[in-house]
Amino acid sequence: MSIFGKKYFGIDISDNAIKAMELSGSFSSATLNSYGNLDLQTKIIKNGQVVNKKLLTEAIKQAIAQTQPKKISTTSCLFALPESKLILTHVKISKKIQQENLNKEILQKVQEIIPFQLKEIYYDYKTVLDYEDYYEILFAAVQKDILNDFIEVFKNANLDLEIVDFESACMVRSLIGNCNMNDAYAIIDIGGRTTIISIYDYCNIRFTNNISIAGNTFTESIATKWDLSFQEAEEFKKSYGLDPVAEEGKVMLVLQKTIQELLAAVKKDINYYQDKTGRKISKIILCGGSALMPKISDYLAKNINITSEIGNPFTKIKSQQKITDKIFYATVAGLALRGLEKNPHKLGINLLKNIK
Ligand SMILES: Nc1ncnc2c1ncn2[C@@H]1O[C@H](COP(=O)(O)OP(=O)(O)OP(=O)(O)O)[C@@H](O)[C@H]1O
Ligand SMILES: [Mg+2]
Repeated sequence: MSIFGKKYFGIDISDNAIKAMELSGSFSSATLNSYGNLDLQTKIIKNGQVVNKKLLTEAIKQAIAQTQPKKISTTSCLFALPESKLILTHVKISKKIQQENLNKEILQKVQEIIPFQLKEIYYDYKTVLDYEDYYEILFAAVQKDILNDFIEVFKNANLDLEIVDFESACMVRSLIGNCNMNDAYAIIDIGGRTTIISIYDYCNIRFTNNISIAGNTFTESIATKWDLSFQEAEEFKKSYGLDPVAEEGKVMLVLQKTIQELLAAVKKDINYYQDKTGRKISKIILCGGSALMPKISDYLAKNINITSEIGNPFTKIKSQQKITDKIFYATVAGLALRGLEKNPHKLGINLLKNIK
């Protein structure tokens, strides 16, 4: 560690892009050193899984080399597992269980819920709520094969992978300010392939779900309707989106069916959570590239009837330069911020924890 504090970088890999960000300092005083986004060619990652290790290794090296305003200068990194590959569940554990039997009890309970044997997964867990007579435990896991491929790629790229986190935990870290036990928010990350909805309540993640409707689906619906190429349809989507006035609302009308399907899924999750817990979601925080779609925030607020805003992942990060399209970096910013925490390896879920 230097006199300037720690230095860590995060790496967020989707089917379409690699985002990298290096921060230095401390969690309460983080400074942006480097950041960047590299578009990925197809068939390197498919549905969140590595397809071509060699090409991914090269792409990671390239993504690191071309960050702005300078190249990433540390090899210490954190990785956010694509949420669609994460197995996440909550279990309740009675406080009557003896401390030395807790681990066994948690694993036994989890086994009843998840469709994998413990020997097939890497896992970690943490207590998210401490009730009068039980603990609520968040258990996260990934199939070994899936993470092994990423681990191998990081090694081949000469990186020191120290922590494997998951996307929604990272978004919470970058997008939400101080913990307030009364706040219950829905963070909705609308990316290219998937939408992740995470419900943050009592200062913790209480629910997450992946919905396979996102930016690509929007573009495809325009391309199909007007017989356009994907690229041409992207331009229409980015220029007019859900604006009811622009181009007489024609693009919005084409997008209507897809966006309504997405909203129905989001509403279902929000209602499920609210009904189950008796809590009220007071705000939607949007992130992911599709949050840039014109008027999407207004559209959501009106149709779901909950205040909606576009998040800012840079509120905890000092930066010399002006960053455009900040919202792309919500996951990777939260990941790099974790590196600056006092005890980043133990602080949250680390799927590397039980790997010998
Ligand atoms: N100005 C814009 N208007 C509408 N959509 C946009 C705009 N800019 C980018 N997008 C969309 O954002 C999506 C990419 O967002 P993002 O980078 O968050 O996704 P990703 O992390 O690569 O994918 P995922 O998380 O789904 O695996 C694409 O569908 C792209 O078309
Ligand atoms: Mg993403």
